[in-house]
Amino acid sequence: MKNIILTGDRPTGRLHLGHYVGSLKRRVELQNSGLYNDIYIEIADAQALTDNFDNLDKVRENVIEVALDYLACGIDPKKTTIFIQSGVPELTELTFYFMNLVTLSRLQRNPTIKDEIKLRNFEKSIPVGFLTYPVSQAADITLFDANTIPVGDDQLPMIEQTREIVRSFNNLYGETLVLPNAVLPESKYAQRLPGLDGKAKMSKSLGNCIYLSDEPEVIEKKIMSMFTDPNHLKVEDPGEVENNPVFIYLEAFATDEHFKKYLPEYQNLDELKAHYKRGGLGDVKIKRFLNNVIQEELEPIRARRKEYEKKIPEVYKILEDGTKKASLVGKNKIEEVKRAMRINYFEDKDLINKHTEKYN
Ligand code: TRP
Repeated sequence: MKNIILTGDRPTGRLHLGHYVGSLKRRVELQNSGLYNDIYIEIADAQALTDNFDNLDKVRENVIEVALDYLACGIDPKKTTIFIQSGVPELTELTFYFMNLVTLSRLQRNPTIKDEIKLRNFEKSIPVGFLTYPVSQAADITLFDANTIPVGDDQLPMIEQTREIVRSFNNLYGETLVLPNAVLPESKYAQRLPGLDGKAKMSKSLGNCIYLSDEPEVIEKKIMSMFTDPNHLKVEDPGEVENNPVFIYLEAFATDEHFKKYLPEYQNLDELKAHYKRGGLGDVKIKRFLNNVIQEELEPIRARRKEYEKKIPEVYKILEDGTKKASLVGKNKIEEVKRAMRINYFEDKDLINKHTEKYN
């Protein structure tokens, strides 16, 4: 069996540290592992339009931002096909056939969709395109025979929905589609990075993000004003580490090497946490350490982004080439699907012969 990765992002803004630690970093590791036959990353513009159909510029302007962020993180277009969803019409075709296999009530039960409907005030009147985007996401995954889907945990309901569609399709029409598996980040701290304000999620709409393209001074300012334990008022006070985003970020990023380099009084994070819990450790000191760690992580990413920013036409060409390649793969798969669904009239000589005999 081939090992094929597919994943993607909506082009609705620049990518941030939550995307990086929850998914991008892993993608680059998987890309460089040499264990995968094919890797696809989709810029899901059509999906982004399902709740931005009245805001075309937002999508149009952010395709390049997301592409730059991918390349900055080390996605290598020689190893990974980066493509734009709307440029692969076979995805729409497959979505239409999948719609027969999904019920309205099943879509309405999808927890991610439920959350998003609330968030977008769609409760009274849900656009059909929006409600059905999980079906289109199932097409994204299956059109490329992907078995490995590196995502954050908010995407698990989408993968589950895809698996149901695959089972149902294969049962009805014969083994045609590959059953995908989600791959989450190893560390639970990386699966969902809280916002700078301590809210459950780093999110553009909440304005609590560190962007991969932020300048060093901006990052420092954001880190130094991060939310910590609100009861840790004086340095002597014992502090809480569990719901403290500064410590959660350290869990996600800090290594023992970082301690050696920037905070040698402590061997590792456990020692630092113990001191904080005891009391006598100030927030500023930890934030300075976190700043060093994050700056070190983002510095090469920013530098690579700046290089690609100098050659935008080349980046668009990467997207165009990737989209052409994805479409070619999609054409083959859609033919296989149509054969399985017996809507391949013109290539089926038996069908033509049978009907010839019927009338002669
Ligand atoms: N829904 C994903 C998000 O909002 C983006 C996405 C679209 C995706 N198609 C995908 C992710 C296929 C994984 C696989 O981030």
